[in-house]
Amino acid sequence: MVPGTCLYHGFSCEDAQIRGEIAPLLYNARIRHSVSRTQIPGGCILFLSQGFNMRTSNYLLSTLKESPAEAVLESHKLMVRAGYIRKLASGLYTWLPTGLAVLKKVEDIIRDEMAKAGCVELLMPFVQPADLWKESGRWIHYGPELCRFKDRHNVDFVLGPTHEEVITALARNEIKSYKQLPLNLYHIQTKFRDEIRPRFGVMRAREFIMKDGYSFDLTTEGLQKSYRKMYRAYSNIFTRLGLDFRAVQADTGSIGGSSSHEFQVLADAGEDVVAFASESDYASNIELTECLEPKTPRAPATKPMGTVPTPGCHTVDEVAELLKVPANTIAKTLVVVGEKKDPEDKGPAPLIAIVLCGNQTLNEVKCEKIEGVKAPLEFATSEQINAFLGCHPGSIGPVKFPGKIVVDRTAAHMADFYCGANHDGEHLSGVNWDRDVPEYTVADVRNIEEGDPSPDGHGTIVLKRGIEVGHIFALHTKYSDAMQCTVLNEEGKPVNMEMGCYGIGVTRVVAAAVEQHHDENGIIMPETIAPFNVTIVPMNMKKSEKVRDFCEKAYKELTAAGIDVLFDDRSERPGVMFADMELIGAPRMLVVGERDLEKDQVEIRYRASGERKSVSASDAVRTIISEVKAALGELNSKAKPQEE
Ligand SMILES: Nc1ncnc2c1ncn2[C@@H]1O[C@H](COP(=O)(O)OP(=O)(O)O)[C@@H](O)[C@H]1O
Ligand SMILES: [Mg+2]
Repeated sequence: MVPGTCLYHGFSCEDAQIRGEIAPLLYNARIRHSVSRTQIPGGCILFLSQGFNMRTSNYLLSTLKESPAEAVLESHKLMVRAGYIRKLASGLYTWLPTGLAVLKKVEDIIRDEMAKAGCVELLMPFVQPADLWKESGRWIHYGPELCRFKDRHNVDFVLGPTHEEVITALARNEIKSYKQLPLNLYHIQTKFRDEIRPRFGVMRAREFIMKDGYSFDLTTEGLQKSYRKMYRAYSNIFTRLGLDFRAVQADTGSIGGSSSHEFQVLADAGEDVVAFASESDYASNIELTECLEPKTPRAPATKPMGTVPTPGCHTVDEVAELLKVPANTIAKTLVVVGEKKDPEDKGPAPLIAIVLCGNQTLNEVKCEKIEGVKAPLEFATSEQINAFLGCHPGSIGPVKFPGKIVVDRTAAHMADFYCGANHDGEHLSGVNWDRDVPEYTVADVRNIEEGDPSPDGHGTIVLKRGIEVGHIFALHTKYSDAMQCTVLNEEGKPVNMEMGCYGIGVTRVVAAAVEQHHDENGIIMPETIAPFNVTIVPMNMKKSEKVRDFCEKAYKELTAAGIDVLFDDRSERPGVMFADMELIGAPRMLVVGERDLEKDQVEIRYRASGERKSVSASDAVRTIISEVKAALGELNSKAKPQEE
């Protein structure tokens, strides 16, 4: 290997240390996969430990021809088939060696960018005392995803779904003075969320691994700086992982706080929808995207209110079909549960009507934030509706609705519209706001749609699907207020610390990478997170000493140079070996046959392009080393330095 070039970054580090004292170390070291780490002054960080060099004969390859029947996403199917993961129970997965190799590389890139941003790693327990959750208030608010249990002394505990409470309790004890700030602490730890519908393999699991970090600052300006650093670190991480992603404005959910960005990997299989503006770089999760009030004024009422028979019609589409009118002339009324004024009140909870234009959909996140609406959002059941109105849920309308009415901004512009009559069998026609429904409030409660004007005023909205792989929040003092997490400022006065929290779904990242990088033959991992940089596939090795000797030598030399190699020494049929090595996602394959060797030739096959290249046998190892370095360098060098 050329001294002065770091295999980890794949490019010259331009510092003398690499050339001098570190060079011999670099030559022998297994770089990445942190066991111990050496920070080179002014240079890069080396991770020194065992790499992923394996012989298939002494490995658990565990590839499968068939994908599990329940799998719908390509990433789920391929991760099982390629021997990355195995299901233990719903939402619980074992990481097999090949998947774990990828996972560790993801973690290493995260650790490297965290170190560059000045963050410090620690490790907090997975099991947490309920007392802390009672202190923060989330014991009540978190909902059934929080897995609660009692120990033998009848004391309440939870399986950590996240670690704000634990870190805040730690910080209030350990951080005494402003002189210790700013501080950014993180860990990479298992989480448990009892998801209602665990699905898509490790994409939405119950047990998963998260990198979660927490920043502590004295002032809001300090927090803003910490937040910007994490924004950059996260952008660097997902860039180096080779993912096509966008940072988008996001809702703050149960974590709380003010500003928040999600890092979304763009993929049709994503569960999230991101709204992009056609003429600016505005991007937000549609959970949050504001729908502007229509520009044109509402048309005047021209028709008297009347009734039309609609026997057996319960949906907007059925009514539209029967009456031969477009869905946007029909108001859709949904009923949600409201908050009781007096929590001690034993009677039924109030019900709230939410009215939308018939062709539009409810945004549950916006709805949950409306005053009086119960959070987490609860739709009224058919029984509740029947007891309240004496009709079917498909027959509800705002006219004479005996409760609070919330009308979406767009629906509030409807005139002469149809709606449910609050009894079955007919609908109302020619309905108009104010005249027929005097009392209602207007709010933005619908999902934005393609073609709607962008809330930033620049062009129209384009929608794309995304997988949320990271999420950063400016929490400010939400937890430090609730849990009295103070620090002494310059005047010696205790002030609540300004906090931020920053998460990456480490296991989900692997699934997202597979979702973005695969073809009909299997996974095609980017170089930085490939389980192996190269596989060696010998033809007829049992019979050919020449092939065996060449492969053994290449394996040793590549390993010594820090390349991750899988040597397929099973002596299987070539077709079987090719299929397996293509499936697992290594970027290249070194194919060695006796006839080729006699001409001093071997073949390198490239997974992404499908290209096959004959190279001189004596050059093959050197070629592979320099290509791996170049590919690593290309991705890693896209990371931007942290500003000071
Ligand atoms: N059930 C899950 N399975 C796998 N990864 C998850 C799961 N839930 C959350 N994550 C990952 O953890 C990151 C941080 O979680 P957070 O933003 O708190 O979750 P959420 O957006 O679901 O409330 C998410 O960006 C996502 O990548
Ligand atoms: Mg999130």
